[in-house]
Amino acid sequence: MSSDNQGLVPYFHFVIQTEISAMRTEIEEVNDASLKKAVRLLAGGGVVAFATETVYGLGGHALNEQAVLEIFRAKQRPADNPLIVHISRVEQAFALCRWNDVAQSLAEAFWPGPLTLLLPKKDTVPDIVTAGLGTVAIRLPSHPAARALLEACGFPIAAPSANRSGRPSPTTARHVYEDLNGLIPLILDGGSCEVGLESTVLDISGETPVILRPGAVTAEQVAMVTGSCDVAPSVMRPLKPGESAPSPGMRHRHYAPKGRLTLFSGEPEAVAKEIVRRYDAAGSARILAMHAHLPLYGDRLISDLGEDAASAAHRLFYLLRAFDEQGIEEIYGETLPPSGLGLAVMNRLARAAAFNIVEV
Ligand code: TXA
Ligand code: MG
Repeated sequence: MSSDNQGLVPYFHFVIQTEISAMRTEIEEVNDASLKKAVRLLAGGGVVAFATETVYGLGGHALNEQAVLEIFRAKQRPADNPLIVHISRVEQAFALCRWNDVAQSLAEAFWPGPLTLLLPKKDTVPDIVTAGLGTVAIRLPSHPAARALLEACGFPIAAPSANRSGRPSPTTARHVYEDLNGLIPLILDGGSCEVGLESTVLDISGETPVILRPGAVTAEQVAMVTGSCDVAPSVMRPLKPGESAPSPGMRHRHYAPKGRLTLFSGEPEAVAKEIVRRYDAAGSARILAMHAHLPLYGDRLISDLGEDAASAAHRLFYLLRAFDEQGIEEIYGETLPPSGLGLAVMNRLARAAAFNIVEV
């Protein structure tokens, strides 16, 4: 190779990178003007981040392959991890999947809301959306800004969580900006997400519905509608070597804070005693605890998960991001009872701790 060529290649890379980082990322309040701008971007094959009641999503026109490719590129998502298609009216699902009676009764009970249904896909949905799988994930969100955007677009929007792959899902517009500044043109600021954890992913292709990812719609609630509901075993334990993941998302490295997170389960007093012992020995650490237990930790540095599972869900990703920002190296966390919304919180916590859970 001539020295001219060797000189050209790095220059070429430099030019490309300059162009990518030159994109300006605007954060705009949700109003008529910003919605119009978002619709224009999305209809033209661009991507826009927007709030839902669970977490922020990075949306693109679900039936436009180039737009979907742009989503994968912006968040550096592995191509084998399929996306959720968002709709604003149940009838929109009919063109995307083979709708059935179970889906209809679940939609009537939980939509709009934090429930994603897996259904056999139709050819209208590009393979890139479903990573080549025969099922498509569909959700009708309840956040007014998400609904206004979907309604104004008229077409379905594919949207994974709007984080850079490997980071916690964003629950504020600022989180999205931290991860995707310079990579996307627009973030519609819909405030802080009420639920704070991603939607329940429910596989209804078999005889009994199975929760692949727990969320704010619980197995108990689903069973009230369908008669029964299972939870995939991999929800609360790591995949075994060679075990196939029921949902591709579980195969990928999940977010873990830069510091080491250790969880403790048992009676609150015994847990607190063990956490205090380790905290005092560590020199510098942070405690992640439920509000009612704060007195057990005296004046040590505590991040408060709040009163109940709902507030823990709302705060968890926010706190995990803050640990990294503050450079905290050692974190000792309480566990929650894995029932109701507590299962979703524990699913995310256990993964953030790489299943490092100490029985006290
Ligand atoms: O709350 C939410 O669900 C948010 C908001 C934006 O709607 N979205 C979200 O998307 O969390 P994402 O892409 O971060 O997570 C989607 C999960 C992944 O674990 C993916 O593997 C799984 O759903 N999934 C999607 N399509 C699937 C399919 N056909 N079969 C099995 N799992 C699927
Ligand atoms: Mg995600």
